[in-house]
Amino acid sequence: SKETFTFHNGVAIPSIGFGTWQIPNEEAYDSVTMALKNGYTHIDTALAYQNEENVGKAIRDFDIARGDVFVTSKLPAQRKGYQETLDAFDETMNNLGLDYLDLYLIHAPWPWDDIGSDHTEGNIESWKAMEKLYNDGKIRAIGVSNFEISDLQAILDNCDIVPMANQIPYYIGRDQKDLVAFCKEHDIVVEAYSPLATGQLLDSPELKELADKYGVTTAQLAIRYCLDKDTLPLPKSTHEKRIIENKQLDFVISEEDLAVLDKMEDVRS
Ligand code: A2P
Repeated sequence: SKETFTFHNGVAIPSIGFGTWQIPNEEAYDSVTMALKNGYTHIDTALAYQNEENVGKAIRDFDIARGDVFVTSKLPAQRKGYQETLDAFDETMNNLGLDYLDLYLIHAPWPWDDIGSDHTEGNIESWKAMEKLYNDGKIRAIGVSNFEISDLQAILDNCDIVPMANQIPYYIGRDQKDLVAFCKEHDIVVEAYSPLATGQLLDSPELKELADKYGVTTAQLAIRYCLDKDTLPLPKSTHEKRIIENKQLDFVISEEDLAVLDKMEDVRS
């Protein structure tokens, strides 16, 4: 399977990222070190995860060239506006201790305590700041997260640079067909966060049966599914055995079984 996805500006992003949401700062150093040790070259964090400090320290301490690891962080959902974005970016870079970022995302179109509220103006202003940081060479690619079609359309209508990525919750049972198709039309890479539905997919008897057939775990089946749907999975684990398992995906799901998976219900709804 392919090793990277490529953004519309030509920058390549490794096709499995190590997600760090819900990894506390105290555990982040060991988890990220384990991920790097086991061949992950793509680490996904955010200012809001409150673990950037140890994520960055793990990357800096590890024996890997900066250019060989892809690092993503995110502008906090509640911090909208031009100057707010430049300030938040500085905070992130101070936390990480890195001198450039590979990918920077607007974490969400609305603050988490007011999901769905309209912040179109603020998002456009933030996006302009992201464009500036990109043009200044401080970020290699810029994108968004949790954006719906209408949120993306507002950016497309008002900005110079089309987002390179949209990071969304995506897993078996939540395939967001219209949104993914829209992203593909505009050459926006879809990153799948919570590819295991935050763990809730793992005990599904239906999945277990299919996984057994391929001699893999339900986690591996769920992560492979994302890749087969041309989305970039960001599995999270703090256990080394699982960290290793989650990138051993050398098997092929048949078209028939993919169709079965496509029809599964969302375990979280
Ligand atoms: P842990 O971090 O304790 O290993 P998602 O990536 O969808 O957010 O899911 C993450 C959740 O799934 C975490 O609770 C994580 O637990 C668990 N998890 C990740 N990988 C595996 C795996 N291979 N087997 C079992 N559980 C896993």
